[in-house]
Amino acid sequence: MFYSEDVLAEVRMGNDIVDVIGEYVKLKKSGANYFGLCPFHNEKTPSFSVSPEKQIYRCFGCGAGGNVFRFIEQKENLTFPETVEYLAKRINYTLPENNSKADAYRREIKQQLWDIHKSAARFYYECLNADMGAEARAYLDKRGVQPNIRKKFGLGYSPDSWQSLNEHLLNEGFEQDMILKSGLVNGSNSGRYYDKFRNRLMFPIIDVYGHIIGFGGRQLRDNKEEAKYLNSPDTEIFNKSFNPYNLNYAKLSNKREFILVEGYMDVISLYQAGFKNAVAALGTAFNQNHASVLHRYTQNIIVLFDSDSAGENAALRALPVLREEGIAARVLQVRDAKDPDEYIKSYGAEAFAKLLQTAVNSTMFRIEHEKKKYSLDNIDDKIALTNDIVAILAETENPLELDLYIRDVSKQIGVSPEAILSEVNRIQGYKKQMPSGSGNGLGKSVKNVQVDNALEDAKSGVISIVAYDKNLFESVERIFDKKEFLDELYIKLYSVIEKLHEQNIPAQAADIVTCLNGETSELQSRAASILMAQLSYDSDEERRRALSDDLKVIKLNYIDKMMDEAENDEEVQRLLQQKKNVENIIKSL
Ligand code: CTP
Ligand code: MN
Repeated sequence: MFYSEDVLAEVRMGNDIVDVIGEYVKLKKSGANYFGLCPFHNEKTPSFSVSPEKQIYRCFGCGAGGNVFRFIEQKENLTFPETVEYLAKRINYTLPENNSKADAYRREIKQQLWDIHKSAARFYYECLNADMGAEARAYLDKRGVQPNIRKKFGLGYSPDSWQSLNEHLLNEGFEQDMILKSGLVNGSNSGRYYDKFRNRLMFPIIDVYGHIIGFGGRQLRDNKEEAKYLNSPDTEIFNKSFNPYNLNYAKLSNKREFILVEGYMDVISLYQAGFKNAVAALGTAFNQNHASVLHRYTQNIIVLFDSDSAGENAALRALPVLREEGIAARVLQVRDAKDPDEYIKSYGAEAFAKLLQTAVNSTMFRIEHEKKKYSLDNIDDKIALTNDIVAILAETENPLELDLYIRDVSKQIGVSPEAILSEVNRIQGYKKQMPSGSGNGLGKSVKNVQVDNALEDAKSGVISIVAYDKNLFESVERIFDKKEFLDELYIKLYSVIEKLHEQNIPAQAADIVTCLNGETSELQSRAASILMAQLSYDSDEERRRALSDDLKVIKLNYIDKMMDEAENDEEVQRLLQQKKNVENIIKSL
């Protein structure tokens, strides 16, 4: 680990979770915990709770959960060490300077790469405004990009030559190997260097802190032999997935809702027309990283893609990504023009504002899309269509919203609202019984699901008791082996608890979660949820009994699994004997 455990504990304890989360979410106290609207998904009734005693949070809606480090990691999109630094700063705590050499070195490299990009952008900008930039300027004139907007976006021109940027950067005093690291210049086998972007209109890509971190370059004349756009490769300062185009300006727009479009020119045209809140995922499909970065600045997005079928498909692929991130999406496909850029040019800003108002919510958009696949005048198609629609509707949990969709759909396809609702409910009921993390498990029988739940309850029961009670923990140690959990999450949790008890550190939910940093976020959330659900017992005696029952369930399950895998009769006999013994072992607890 990067920082020692006691440093982590001090930083964590200095940052009370209720205070920290309270800066992002309006929290209200109810009983022992605080409640509010979850910042990680869109919701109208609070299912997000924070425990001041345990110093952890948990959302019962989307499953997010963890301690204060985890919260900041997710919310501010930081790495774990960055999170520690962030929270240390918040309480003016001075972190020990470990690894500082490696750190300083990395910072230095980043700084140089930023400087190279800044210098390159200035160079391209000057080239655009020099004689050699005439054709590029004419191109921008043709596309109606005004001079103030060219400046605002730092547009430039990369000369039609193999070395001019490289020479410029060398003249500015940058080292050749650093220039290569920037990705703006490539080396060849013959030991020569050549500029990546030649004779292209240049679009600097700027991060939210204002650093230029990469470029996109467009051909001036459509030439099918080369790519229309070239983009910088990923480097130490540039990662395509984390840097939507124009986020630097969009975040300043103070708009509640962002507009997600496909291209550079869409963003720029919209900006020029006064819509400063457009962003684009460049040179790569919109993915979960884009969504999580955007989520730091907005909860609502209008997905606005080109009018062709590629555009429609791109929109359909973006929807589950946004949904997963908890961002509410509306969707709009451009009509009567190729893309938003052309639309604005042809019809103007006012018409565009009206167009935006016609964005439909993502559920209705997906239903419309399904409808295009089928004809409504034959029964088989109607049944297939209804099934597809029901699957989409079943994702809607809000009953009011669901009711409105169903009325609408029923009218459109001529199936009674009652029939649709009952089908939706059936699917929803089924989904609810799925234990979390078991995939969709659609082949599972309901009985099996109940068994799984009992087992899951038993495991989390054991954890939530032994975590906070050292005496019981020691009793359990004598008769139980953590491998009997047969589940990576519980084995890890138990190991952490073991370690804390060994060191005589009173196990605190939040510290247990800290020890799990580096694990997947799903594992951390599940851990938070288990630790949050501490049952209260009327007496010690009752608690001990609950623990015995839980251990019995786990042990029997373990033996059953071993029997499934047993390779010979002897082993089976031995396991059967063990099974008979379980009762006795448990009694000795
Ligand atoms: N793109 C890319 N590489 C390509 C084509 C496209 O990286 N070979 C990216 C660019 O970011 C582009 C976006 O995908 O802006 C959308 O593509 P397209 O609709 O073809 O671009 P437009 O922005 O409409 O380009 P233009 O209007 O300049 O023709
Ligand atoms: Mn386009």
